[in-house]
Amino acid sequence: MTKNEAVKTSPRVIAICSGKGGVGKTFFSIHLASKAGQQGLRVLLLDADLGMANVDVMLGMSGKGSIRQVLSGAARLSDVLVHTKQGFDVLPGGSGFSDLSALNTQQQQILMDEMREAEKNYDLVLIDTAAGIGDNVLFFVASAESSLVVLTPDPTSLTDAYALIKVLSQQRDVHRFMVLVNQVDAFEGELTFRRLMSVADRYLDVQLDYVGCVPNSKDVQKAVQRQSLLTSGEAFQAMDIALSSVLSRPRDDSRQGGLQFFWEHSLGQGLNAEQGVGSSV
Ligand SMILES: Nc1ncnc2c1ncn2[C@@H]1O[C@H](COP(=O)(O)OP(=O)(O)OP(=O)(O)O)[C@@H](O)[C@H]1O
Ligand SMILES: [Mg+2]
Repeated sequence: MTKNEAVKTSPRVIAICSGKGGVGKTFFSIHLASKAGQQGLRVLLLDADLGMANVDVMLGMSGKGSIRQVLSGAARLSDVLVHTKQGFDVLPGGSGFSDLSALNTQQQQILMDEMREAEKNYDLVLIDTAAGIGDNVLFFVASAESSLVVLTPDPTSLTDAYALIKVLSQQRDVHRFMVLVNQVDAFEGELTFRRLMSVADRYLDVQLDYVGCVPNSKDVQKAVQRQSLLTSGEAFQAMDIALSSVLSRPRDDSRQGGLQFFWEHSLGQGLNAEQGVGSSV
């Protein structure tokens, strides 16, 4: 299959990532999946926080297995997919194991082979990654067409978001990022984004696109506790604007073709980085 043919059939792939943990990636990912599903898109949410996954917990669902069985060859990806009542499919990342914290080349190959089959059934693939700059995060983000960085106004979150963007741009050739600021009002959200952009503009070859912000809200905590989606209130309204902004963005012409077209590139970049080719500021 040529790249042009693949582009016609391949889903859009968006990775959701952050430098610091606990900033709202999974919460935003499940709502993005739900909204896209409501718009009629066929959506797969891949829980890529392997071994510490919690998409299933937030949705109050349970599956028959996880990506772990797929990677060990014990199951096919289609066997462990969960069709959620929220209107999208989830590939569970599994919980309580550490052996997949850095997928090896063979495991990456198995996953990409399985995804090549599965992605024909979807219009949109979302990848909810772990926090930080671990190998899996770099692999998954570099394998996606677009990436969304989530951060809070906390200075450590800002610094870690910058570090993630820096590593992805310098070692994995990812230069364009959507940015969501969580737990802020509109003014502080804009300010936090500008802080990140001013330092990124100065030192990195990247383009950052602000998609919006979500206020700090008890409604969010209640929804998480109830294991259900947020459906109303101020935080919901603000998040909905950000979700629409992500979903309405045009595809990136330079990065189309589904997961399979990036994984080899990603692997190559990873090897170069390990060999010390990646530079750092
Ligand atoms: N806008 C918000 N207002 C209040 N609480 C929030 C908000 N966003 C997220 N939270 C709280 O932060 C917690 C962590 O959210 P979530 O699990 O989505 O973060 P994460 O970035 O996926 O974390 P991890 O890095 O561990 O995967 C949630 O359980 C929720 O209670
Ligand atoms: Mg998470």
